[in-house]
Amino acid sequence: MKKGTGVFLVLALALAAILVAGCGGAKGTADSKQAPEKIIAKFSHVAAPSTPKGLAAQKFAELVKERTNGRVEIQVFPSSQLYGDKDEFEALQANNVQFIAPSAGKLISFDQRFQIGDMPFLFKDNQGASRFWDSEAGKKLMKSLESQGMVGLTSWPNGMRQFMNSKKELRKPEDFKGLKFRVPAGGVLVDIFQALGAGAVTLPFSEVYPALQQKVVDGTIATFDNIENEKYAEVLNYLTVANVNNLSYIVIANKKFWEGLPSDLRGTIEQCLKEATEYERQLADKLDQESLAKLKQKIKVYELNPEERQAFVQAMQPVWAKYEPVIGKDLFEEAQKLNK
Ligand code: SIN
Repeated sequence: MKKGTGVFLVLALALAAILVAGCGGAKGTADSKQAPEKIIAKFSHVAAPSTPKGLAAQKFAELVKERTNGRVEIQVFPSSQLYGDKDEFEALQANNVQFIAPSAGKLISFDQRFQIGDMPFLFKDNQGASRFWDSEAGKKLMKSLESQGMVGLTSWPNGMRQFMNSKKELRKPEDFKGLKFRVPAGGVLVDIFQALGAGAVTLPFSEVYPALQQKVVDGTIATFDNIENEKYAEVLNYLTVANVNNLSYIVIANKKFWEGLPSDLRGTIEQCLKEATEYERQLADKLDQESLAKLKQKIKVYELNPEERQAFVQAMQPVWAKYEPVIGKDLFEEAQKLNK
């Protein structure tokens, strides 16, 4: 090889390396050889800024900025502004975004067992769900994401899901026949409605309000907090308080980004996330009850009595029979033990 050609090749390779490093997602991530001046990470989620998830993501960003003296900046993008349900996982795996917080059941395509969060009448309340996700069994399940380039860090609850629809008051399983509901993800949630003789359609969160308004679906299953923040009461008339299942989010980071952080910074960020989690969990119950009070002023709210609720528990037996082997008896037993 001629001497000039060799020099040219070395320069070209160096330039290519610089260009590749520059396309790595977050500006100045810890991948660079030299300690970067500033690390910018994006936190994308689909809920409103005023929800427990929205407020906790903001709190996390503020704590991180303060404790790292501005060296790390977490930019929060709520309300599907950056990525929605359809593309946030792909964006996280590609490191185009560094944090997301989907509901556990939306992780179905990575590991079916995450649907445990959607199981009907398994979790009693937010606390019972958090006890499960904080347990060794819950942490092990979150760890399963690591083989797919993601790290499950913690869980943020947002209340129990309730039934809502535009057609009639729903008091017993037979009332659901022929109605069509929106669900956040397939599997367990679809089967819940099938067991009630109703149809179910999986739709991204950002498309729920227009779908309800245009009567593509008759109703949805959601927490008081989301019902209030998404203004579903403008387009639906009836809310049945059944505490069907729990909505908990799994806060997930891109693995390469997370593990590439200098360990002192990662420790600080972990501590900030712990504090943001405590804040979120306190807020979730408070906002849940505040939303219910507001909804009672706007629409017809019917609370199932214990006998009526028992009829729904009974109707869900086929769903339990189908999903116990899929999710695993061990996880069911752990969740039941922590929700007595
Ligand atoms: C969310 O609260 O993040 C979305 C929940 C849903 O899709 O129903």
